[in-house]
This record gives sequence, structure tokens and C-alpha cells, in this order.
Amino acid sequence: MAKGTLAVLTGGGDCPGLNAVIRGVVKSALKNGYDIYGIQNGFNGLINDQMKLMTYEDISGILPRGGTVLGTTNRDNPFKFAVEEDGKFVYYDKRDTVVENLKKHGIEALIVIGGDGSLNIAAELSLECGVNVIGVPKTIDNDLPCTERTFGFDTAMEVATEAVDRLHTTAESHHRVMALEVMGRYAGWIALHSGIAGGADVILLPEIPYNIDAVIAKIRERISHGKLFSIIVVAEGAKPIGGELSVARMVEGSFEPIRLGGVGAKIVDEIEAKTGIESRCTVLGYLQRGGSPTPFDRVLSTRYGVAAVEACINKNYNVMVSLHHDEILTVPIGKAAEKVRLVPSDSSIIRAARQIGISFGDEE
Ligand code: F6P
Repeated sequence: MAKGTLAVLTGGGDCPGLNAVIRGVVKSALKNGYDIYGIQNGFNGLINDQMKLMTYEDISGILPRGGTVLGTTNRDNPFKFAVEEDGKFVYYDKRDTVVENLKKHGIEALIVIGGDGSLNIAAELSLECGVNVIGVPKTIDNDLPCTERTFGFDTAMEVATEAVDRLHTTAESHHRVMALEVMGRYAGWIALHSGIAGGADVILLPEIPYNIDAVIAKIRERISHGKLFSIIVVAEGAKPIGGELSVARMVEGSFEPIRLGGVGAKIVDEIEAKTGIESRCTVLGYLQRGGSPTPFDRVLSTRYGVAAVEACINKNYNVMVSLHHDEILTVPIGKAAEKVRLVPSDSSIIRAARQIGISFGDEE
């Protein structure tokens, strides 16, 4: 007879380390005598009752694997469940179905591995429906408050840094300006870290609006020193001073209706038009989310998974596990996703970057 029954789901965009968290959750739940359900495809599986009891067999070999063995979606909010009817989206409230499904399987706590969208839903489920939830902070963007690190960020940073390294050799050979557009949504953490790690000349962040003439001034300064190529790392959420975000398209029914993209291409077009220097853009896109997690992310994900189960065992519900000074703590889930954690524009890392001559496109 199990000591209790738990469930786990992965919500929102996929992220390296999801499988490592699932493995940590399942292993520690089973070791402590709990049954653990794996819910398929995020909140969709909770609404449609698609879940199965997990065994050691289900998690065998998944630690280094990217993606999520449970599947995920960044649609399907139980409070606003979008259904396409006659070419239009109609929204239904499915909270009662969720509560019934959890009750039917005797699930006493739900572990939600997700970013701000999924964690906000988890907070709402606890507040509005009395569901016991535990959040695990996932996102390559590293933009959740109340934790020093989300899992997945380290891997995205490594992929982006390798891309900057590779762009260097081709940029140098052709005397070109190369821009690399990276993800991160409204936060510039991936751009900032990979830009510094890769030795970029210009880093453009959502937090520091840029002036294209300052970017060009940096490129010209390099040319005057005999450096005939330049590397720009630009966050997808970067925008010019007084200008707009580059929006690729709007997506109805998604947790995040604005799909960003295009700022890198816009910048290289402007540079080429104003200077005549051959310029190119590479959009790194989903390569930052796919594939095997780094050792750092594997360890952090494992610790988060184990801590989530520990919180369930201690009945420390309605919290998110979080990293503080290398310890895993818990914070109230309502606080965990209430706003986005941005790069402070006066942070010591930005000051260090400026000291080594990196331009943020805002210099006079
Ligand atoms: O939040 C993670 C992230 O990869 C962002 O960096 C990016 O803007 C977004 O998700 C893309 O989401 P989607 O999977 O909906 O295209």
C-alpha cells in the first residue's frame, strides 16, 4: 500500500533538463513509497485524464535526453481552455474537470514543471480550487523571480556561446558583421552571458534599448583598429530607443500570444544600408532548447525534482522550489511567477562587459 499519490506534468515550451527533473521526481517518490502519475502533454492531459503510473522502467536512460518524455504544450489553460469551433477560438472553464480527475486518481499533490505561464496556472489551481501544487522553475530564459537559476538556462547559454565561437571564424574570413539572434523573450540573460562568453563586440538586450548609430560607431571603431569584422549578439526582445519589439506573429490560444523574432535581420539590414559593410544574421532559435542538458542543468534538475517530492512529503504545498546560494529552498508559488526577472541595467556583469569594451548600443 503506497504512502500517498502524487502527479507530475511538464508545461510550456520544452527545455533541456525536463527529463532529469522527471527522473528525480519519479525516483525519489518511488523510493519514499509514493505512487506517482505522469500526466501527458501538460494541462491537456490533466483535462483529458491522460495519465499513467510511472515505474523505474519509464525513466530508464532519460537523464541525458532533451525534450520531455511526458510531452508538453504551451496551450491548454484549464481556466481558459481554447477550442477551435468554426474557425474561431471559444474558451471553456475546465477547472472542475481538473479537480475531478485529480480526485478520481487519489492525487494529493501535483508537481508542475514549467515557466511563468504554467506556474501561474498552478498558483491559480491552488488558490481557486484548493489543489496542492509544487512548482519547478523551468525556462531557458532564466527570467523567473524568486530563484537564482532556472534549469535549462545553462544549456541554452552553452549552445549560444558555441554559435558565437563559430560565427567568429566565418565573420573574420569574410570581413563581415555577423549578428546572432538568441531567445529569451523579454529578458536578455541568454544574450548577455553568451555574448560575454563568446567575446561579442556588441550585445543588444531588451533591458537596454539601442541606437543603431551607436552600434555602427562600435563597428567603425573596430575597423579603425584593423578589426574588419564584428560580432553582435542580439536578444529576440531587443528594441531600438523609442521603437517597437520585432514581432514574428501573433498566436491565439497560447500562453504567450506574441511570438518574437526578426530583430537580428532588421539590424543587419540597417548596418549594411548605412555602411555598405556586408552583414548577415543567424537566428539560433530552437537549437537553444533541444538536445542534451549540460552537467550543471542535469544536477540542478535532479535537485529540483527531489526537492519537489520532499515538499510533498512534508506537506509543504503551494510553493516553488528555488535555488539560493547553492541551496534548494521553497518560496510561495503566488510570488514565483508574478513578474519577469529582467537583467538589471546597472548590474556588475554589465559593468564588467562595458569595461572590456563591449557595446550595448546605448553609448553617446
Ligand atoms: O520561453 C522559452 C522560449 O523559448 C522563449 O525564449 C521564446 O521566445 C519562446 O519560448 C518561443 O516559444 P514557442 O515554443 O511558443 O515558439
